[in-house]
Amino acid sequence: MGDLTRIQWTRYRSSGPEVGTPDPERWAPLGFPAPPPDRPWIFGVVVASANGVVAWRRRDARDDPVREILGGEPRLDRIADRRLMRYLRTIGDAGIGAQTVREQPTLILSPQEPGDERAPELYAFRVARGLSHHPRNVIYSLYGRVPSQHPMLTTPGLSTIILTTPAGRSELTRRGIREPAVIVEALLEPEGLERAHARLRAEHGVRYLACEGGQTLFAALRAARLLDEMFVTTTDVVVDRAAHESVLTTFDFVAEGATLVAEGRLEPGGVYTFKRWRFGAARR
Ligand SMILES: NC(=O)c1ccc[n+]([C@@H]2O[C@H](COP(=O)([O-])OP(=O)(O)OC[C@H]3O[C@@H](n4cnc5c(N)ncnc54)[C@H](OP(=O)(O)O)[C@@H]3O)[C@@H](O)[C@H]2O)c1
Repeated sequence: MGDLTRIQWTRYRSSGPEVGTPDPERWAPLGFPAPPPDRPWIFGVVVASANGVVAWRRRDARDDPVREILGGEPRLDRIADRRLMRYLRTIGDAGIGAQTVREQPTLILSPQEPGDERAPELYAFRVARGLSHHPRNVIYSLYGRVPSQHPMLTTPGLSTIILTTPAGRSELTRRGIREPAVIVEALLEPEGLERAHARLRAEHGVRYLACEGGQTLFAALRAARLLDEMFVTTTDVVVDRAAHESVLTTFDFVAEGATLVAEGRLEPGGVYTFKRWRFGAARR
């Protein structure tokens, strides 16, 4: 019997040519289509509670919605979810909304975050496919309120690209943030968001982007028809919505017309479900 944290996937549709796996014992290989010619293929990665909650407004630094949604203790499902997320950071580059950057002060989007188990095989898997050691970290910020000492901006060898607006660029300059590449577009307009991604592809060669949220960013990408699919982990935790403010939920994928491409779980005894929802080519 293989590793108990290897997700057993049932595939309903072809997801695209397989990219391979850093270790077949721990990760079943996933497939991805060729990216569109003029922008990256963008896949969301999210964990939701059993009733669809992905975040709420934190009362303080100890109020951590993600940890609560995952269900606390380090069980096999949780390890599998983290490993899937880390594997998805080997596919290409990775993106995140500025609110998550502000609320998660130790986050870096790399196959091995500080405090993680060692993962040299994930980096080797990237490099063998011609990718950089770390994925480029793409931060989305309208108004440039990015903490200048955040590890996404200070980790040696990690390249960051900030997508922002003209107002955001002024704020970044005011904060002394000059190092990373900056793409300035009218991001509140879907066409501006689309141009920014065309530039990510043309100027930086970004072909695949693992977008790790939050929901505000997902909604903007979806409205601009840029979100191609989502990997959604659903846990067994039911969040009491009335106990929190500004509760955010993931999409209703069926109502959005998305197709369930694959579904996975741990055998035996897994309680999380791992789903892969693809948004239609015929968009709204
Ligand atoms: N459950 C999960 O899997 C998961 C995943 C990720 C995050 N989270 C949690 O979700 C919470 C944060 O999520 P959130 O939805 O509030 O925020 P978010 O999506 O992480 O970030 C929102 C920010 O993105 C920028 N933005 C908004 N619209 C944009 C657009 N059209 N183009 C470019 N940038 C745009 C703005 O930045 P500025 O304000 O700088 O202008 C905005 O404040 C945190 O608690 C985090 O821990 C959960």
